[in-house]
Amino acid sequence: MNILVTGGAGYIGSHAVRKLCETGHSVVVLDNLSYGHREAVPNNVPFYHVDLKDTDQIETILRKHHINAVMHFAALISVGESVQKPLLYYRNNTAGAMSLLEAMERVGVRRFVFSSTAATYGEPEETPILETTRQQPINPYGRSKWFVEQILQDIVTADPKFGFVVFRYFNVAGATEDGSIGENHQPETHLIPLVLFAAMGKRNNITVFGTDYPTPDGTCIRDYVHVNDLVTAHVLGIEALSDGDARFYNLGIGHGYSVREILDAAKKVTGKEIPTVFGSRREGDPARLFANSDKAQKELGWNPQHTNIEEIIASAWHWHTH
Ligand SMILES: NC(=O)c1ccc[n+]([C@@H]2O[C@H](COP(=O)([O-])OP(=O)(O)OC[C@H]3O[C@@H](n4cnc5c(N)ncnc54)[C@H](O)[C@@H]3O)[C@@H](O)[C@H]2O)c1
Repeated sequence: MNILVTGGAGYIGSHAVRKLCETGHSVVVLDNLSYGHREAVPNNVPFYHVDLKDTDQIETILRKHHINAVMHFAALISVGESVQKPLLYYRNNTAGAMSLLEAMERVGVRRFVFSSTAATYGEPEETPILETTRQQPINPYGRSKWFVEQILQDIVTADPKFGFVVFRYFNVAGATEDGSIGENHQPETHLIPLVLFAAMGKRNNITVFGTDYPTPDGTCIRDYVHVNDLVTAHVLGIEALSDGDARFYNLGIGHGYSVREILDAAKKVTGKEIPTVFGSRREGDPARLFANSDKAQKELGWNPQHTNIEEIIASAWHWHTH
């Protein structure tokens, strides 16, 4: 397939580009480099420094490369920033996706894979979280993604030849085995890289927000999925798509690790002390968030390989230190 990857210079998108190339697909990358890194895209992959809102340019790219399918990773990803600047998030993530979908409509590209998020569930009524668990996002970031999910359902209703997969990611972590690409967010907000920065002395300490949650050790529990497993699901998803598909899958490993367990595992992997400060709870942080991903496993044959947290952290550590 000829696949356009938006956000292909970002963390997850750059891993998807490698996986797609390895599995014999022809890939083109679009990224505005607001947060991405040009060097994360292999030199032999056509790269366009273009913003999602440029519908005409996207149309030209789709036509030029005879694109059959789009994997849409490009988005702004900071929950905190989305609360401060909601319009920026709706413009970039929701209107940006609409612009991309409009360009696809003009050209007749009808296969779409969308990066959604566990944040669309908000503070869920049940764990493990199923795809059918009620979605009630509690911040503009989550809503900006949830709106796109709904727009996609409307498109498939209007055009039964359209087909899409929505993947709702839990916490994505880790890096490629060779250490050539990895998580490189600036600023970084995710726990595992922050813990590793503390281990490297790049930050003074790590703050644990809340030690009085109703969990065995009092800290929050989250589901961590290795980035290579995550992008493998995308390849399976895009290859499985047919007319009229409206597929939704959670991507997590089905059980969680607490913040303390992450700290202990990081200490073991790095052999370093991790200076830790214990703070109070943050608003909107549920005690436990983990996925039931049986649906992706059954329907797509997805079989995550890296379910051990030390292994996931070790691959991230290798990327940061090699
Ligand atoms: N990292 C996670 O744990 C996680 C969890 C849930 C969902 N997601 C979703 O996965 C996707 C990728 O996340 P990531 O961690 O790789 O983030 P990232 O910031 O590393 O990558 C996003 C990329 O999109 C590009 N981009 C943003 N807005 C753009 C625009 N308007 N036009 C063109 N390019 C644009 C950025 O330059 C960047 O390269 C996002 O959609 C995010 O919401 C990530």
